[in-house]
Amino acid sequence: MGTKRIGILTGGGDCPGLNAVIRAVVMRAAAGDTEVVGLRRGWRGLLDRDSLPLDTERVRTILPLGGTILGTSRTNPSREKDGMERSRASFKDLGLSVLIAVGGEDTLGVAARLSDEGMPLIGVPKTIDNDLQGTDVTFGFDTSVQIASDALDRLHTTACSHERTLVVEIMGRHAGWITLMAGLSGSADVILIPEYPVDIESVVQRIKRRYERGPRYAIVAVSEGAKLTGGEAKKAKALDAFGHVRLGGVGEQLAAEIGRRTGFETRSVTLGHLQRGGTPTAFDRILGTRFGVRACELALEGRTGLMVALRGTKIVPIPIQEAVASLKTVDDDLYKLAATFFS
Ligand code: F6P
Repeated sequence: MGTKRIGILTGGGDCPGLNAVIRAVVMRAAAGDTEVVGLRRGWRGLLDRDSLPLDTERVRTILPLGGTILGTSRTNPSREKDGMERSRASFKDLGLSVLIAVGGEDTLGVAARLSDEGMPLIGVPKTIDNDLQGTDVTFGFDTSVQIASDALDRLHTTACSHERTLVVEIMGRHAGWITLMAGLSGSADVILIPEYPVDIESVVQRIKRRYERGPRYAIVAVSEGAKLTGGEAKKAKALDAFGHVRLGGVGEQLAAEIGRRTGFETRSVTLGHLQRGGTPTAFDRILGTRFGVRACELALEGRTGLMVALRGTKIVPIPIQEAVASLKTVDDDLYKLAATFFS
């Protein structure tokens, strides 16, 4: 119904399940006799008109693959000279009738602006951080939680053998979803997330009590964006194109402080990009597939300015602006539940 050529891009940090979305869009479009072109490296591909044709043959085997066959970047068109105008011109020149943008708060923030300015856009919510509003969950989150939970299981046995405290730094820039869920699943003794700043001394006292009672080891799950009070100030770090601080280092800093104050041997482990790489879980493959099919159907119906979202068991379209208006952070109920298991 009017849609002749669908463009698709993946932007921001990569995330398990991106290829599931791309495959689903291409295969659903093929069933509707519609052409799909991929844009390379997120918004960079639109700015530079760097595209490749996508057909069913190209996407047939990509479902279990991590990363994105389109590549990604943190390019922000609004920070480039005439970036928004150039994006609109490229859209026309590439002969696109609709663009599907797969991304998190930054990529979808640009999509919301371009959509407001009249570009036909559909968003697909992607981020391991799970911090997008409007959808119960983003794809990639489940895989990331599983990886972090597996890591915590492994760290329990070695920490116990050596009577050590291990501080595990987990991704999640402004929201503690991965740390909280992995901490619950992997039975961390202390969980520290950005939403609930904690004084370092109270963490130290909890660990000391645990050693006194036994067992004489502890696992601390700390979100890379956690705010700790009562310790040394962190050093200033570099910013990305969306103005976000490149995080990392809180685990090491916290481990040093805990070791110094308790006298217990304390080490840190940073899970880093291990949490984003590799094959998606079955849940994320299915969610990515459902998002991709629905996004493509909206494109075929000529319905734009929307983002596909999971609400309960259904995939529904919501205004793209709803998803980027604010961040979805961990709520009180969930945090209180998790606190039941703190040392
Ligand atoms: O937004 C997803 C995320 O993995 C965050 O958890 C993390 O802070 C950030 O991306 C890291 O991004 P990069 O790999 O670009 O440094």
